[in-house]
Amino acid sequence: MPSVRSKAALSLAQTEPGGVLPITEIRGMPEARLKTGMEEFDRALGGGIVARSLILLGGDPGIGKSTLLMQALGALARLNERVLYISGEESPEQLKLRADRLGILADNFLVLAENRFETVLSHIDESQCSVVVVDSVQSIFSPSLDSAAGSVSQIRHVTAGILDVVKRGAAACFLVGHVTKDGVLAGPKVLEHMVDTVLSFEGERSHPYRILRASKNRFGSSSEIGVFEMGDRGLQEVANPSELFLSERPEGVSGSAVTALVEGTRPILAEIQALVTGPAPGQGRRTCLGVDSQRLALMIAVLEKKLGLALADQDIFLNAVGGVRASEPAADLAVAGALLSSFMDRVAGSRTVLFGEVGLAGEARRVSNAEGRIAEAARLGFTRIIAPKANVEAAAPGRGLKLVAITHIKELASLLFQEES
Ligand code: TYD
Ligand code: MG
Repeated sequence: MPSVRSKAALSLAQTEPGGVLPITEIRGMPEARLKTGMEEFDRALGGGIVARSLILLGGDPGIGKSTLLMQALGALARLNERVLYISGEESPEQLKLRADRLGILADNFLVLAENRFETVLSHIDESQCSVVVVDSVQSIFSPSLDSAAGSVSQIRHVTAGILDVVKRGAAACFLVGHVTKDGVLAGPKVLEHMVDTVLSFEGERSHPYRILRASKNRFGSSSEIGVFEMGDRGLQEVANPSELFLSERPEGVSGSAVTALVEGTRPILAEIQALVTGPAPGQGRRTCLGVDSQRLALMIAVLEKKLGLALADQDIFLNAVGGVRASEPAADLAVAGALLSSFMDRVAGSRTVLFGEVGLAGEARRVSNAEGRIAEAARLGFTRIIAPKANVEAAAPGRGLKLVAITHIKELASLLFQEES
């Protein structure tokens, strides 16, 4: 059994790496964060880039990973940081063409087109840059291993080598990783545990919206998202995602309901659309995008049992519009509302927002951060909120919108299709 150490021994241990210490004796070390000034980018990282951190950025080919990181480095270069972009996929000319299009040419923005691992490592080590990008991990290759470029052992070896250099040096490093068809980083659960932060860049190539999301972050929250729009001159930040996600909302049609989500600390309004068609022969199909399929199943079961809707033989499609992820239970009421609206072919109030969890007994249950959700709905000009009674009772009055309390899913139809004043 180790004995309890004296104060003197403890203060000695402070300077000895590996010494055992009471946790209260450890001095907090605020990690230095470098902000790019691209707020959506900094936010997804939990407030900026932490020095000596290794960050993996995954995403489908063509979604804009190279563009995003080049813009982030460009923003840093404008703030007089020395930055290095290493590409194993593109030539210096191609890199320059893109940088020119993005309007970020600068002398302290260095580029290297290289895919030999050993050369890449020595450049990261000696570049004296504050941030380095390696695009992509699959394109960097070490001849010291027998396996082919992009194989699991190669990307593991490459990542381990870069991790080592990053932890010993001063630079933070972004590693780009391609995602395979089924949505996993290629090779890559193996990489996810090696790095400090895992970001994914999501969106549909046919839509301009992109969401930057952290799924792991050793240095902060992993629930913040950054929202961007791809345009002719690269990615534009979207400071008001609610406006974006609601911008194409059809008015006066059934099957649409608006909910208020919270992503990290930020409330975001999103449209939930449902299409209920049938009867279909046999068991109806269920297809759902952006909403957890288990929660959809739960809502369907509750609507069947508590409202007596005959949904079993109906085909049901559900979509959180614009690539939003409405996986919070707070979206339950809007999911139920959209389903009910489509099934009954009645239009829900267009200036109404719904949020709240629905329990198995059909009861509406309170959710966190109601104030933020209500404030966001008010800001966007909605006039009515349907929310669990407990949330409504706790809400501060004012803001010029009507708060309608719901206790049970049975009340949903009469509240949802009410004419708005
Ligand atoms: P890219 O960053 O190369 O994607 P990734 O590195 O994830 O494979 O960007 C791919 C797409 O973005 C490409 O099809 C062209 C488009 N794009 C724009 O629409 N505007 C721009 O300013 C840029 C640089 C790219
Ligand atoms: Mg690329």
